[in-house]
Amino acid sequence: MVKDGGLVAFPTETVYGLGADALNPEAVKKIFEVKGRPSDNPLIVHVASIEEVYPLVKEVPEKAEKLMKKFWPGPLTLVLKKKSIVPDIVTAGMDTVAIRMPDNEIALAMIREAGTPVVAPSANIFSKPSPTTSDHVVSDLYGKIEVIIDAGATRIGVESTVIDATTDKLMLLRPGGLNLEEIEAVVGRVELHPAVQMMPIVNGPSRSPGMKYKHYAPDAKVILVEGSDERIVGKVNSLITRYKRCGLVVGVITMRKHGLYDADVVKFMSDLNAFAKGLFSAFREFDEVGVDVIIVEGVEERGLGLAIMNRLRKASFKIEKA
Ligand code: TXA
Ligand code: MG
Repeated sequence: MVKDGGLVAFPTETVYGLGADALNPEAVKKIFEVKGRPSDNPLIVHVASIEEVYPLVKEVPEKAEKLMKKFWPGPLTLVLKKKSIVPDIVTAGMDTVAIRMPDNEIALAMIREAGTPVVAPSANIFSKPSPTTSDHVVSDLYGKIEVIIDAGATRIGVESTVIDATTDKLMLLRPGGLNLEEIEAVVGRVELHPAVQMMPIVNGPSRSPGMKYKHYAPDAKVILVEGSDERIVGKVNSLITRYKRCGLVVGVITMRKHGLYDADVVKFMSDLNAFAKGLFSAFREFDEVGVDVIIVEGVEERGLGLAIMNRLRKASFKIEKA
């Protein structure tokens, strides 16, 4: 299918991907069309072994090599200097290419079967939350692509961590399923791109173009509440009261114990793993039941919390300080 230029949605350990032959520009073009994705946002190339990286890139710096050996297969994407064999449409004309080896047997078997590297963005319509079940893919892309492989819910639920590894001065471009702390334990300090925590990008074009778009957003308005632990419950409660009084249907996402909030729908996340795994699903479920406003308690930016907060800020209509 992939080798014939078709599009195949498949599971990875992070989210479902929409795969096409990375070396076939016509097939890659269809991905942008089907997703409604702007053409200046480059794609990640998926491989089934470390050896497949070398024909695609000019060099693999020492730290990049260390990271591949330690964390692949896994939720880590490395940006490296590309060779001309990688079509411009994959990289949005940039001279670098993002590559990862997913930790999912079906994904790896599919890439091996295709006999070619496979580009795969998340298999959602542009700006919708990333799909973590095949049902999500069906609701966004059914009838528009050749195949949807179902393998239940994905294990991690947020996308891969993206690191610029073109030089040994590493930079985190997108926090994701692999924690920064684990990466730094292997290769030392990694700089954070300002967009990771949504600080304004200081001069120049962004190094990961995908970061500038609003993403992951449900139809309901997301209000993110950040601030001191003692004040956050009071703040969330006053927001619930305020929006309910306007006649709006209010949803809450919280890691605090049940029964604290009098919202119409409350999603309880037992820990950061559950939060990451359930976040995009929760957004979609809130939309299905007609929630108008989703109030989300912020989490600490440690471990998976860095990726969760990045996605929440991107999805937010408004950030309230408690
Ligand atoms: O977990 C994942 O990474 C999933 C699964 C399907 O593998 N894929 C995914 O792809 O999240 P996508 O297209 O939704 O996100 C790709 C991200 C974007 O933020 C994009 O800007 C960045 O990777 N990216 C791709 N190529 C790049 C490059 N050459 N330089 C910098 N950033 C790049
Ligand atoms: Mg995406």
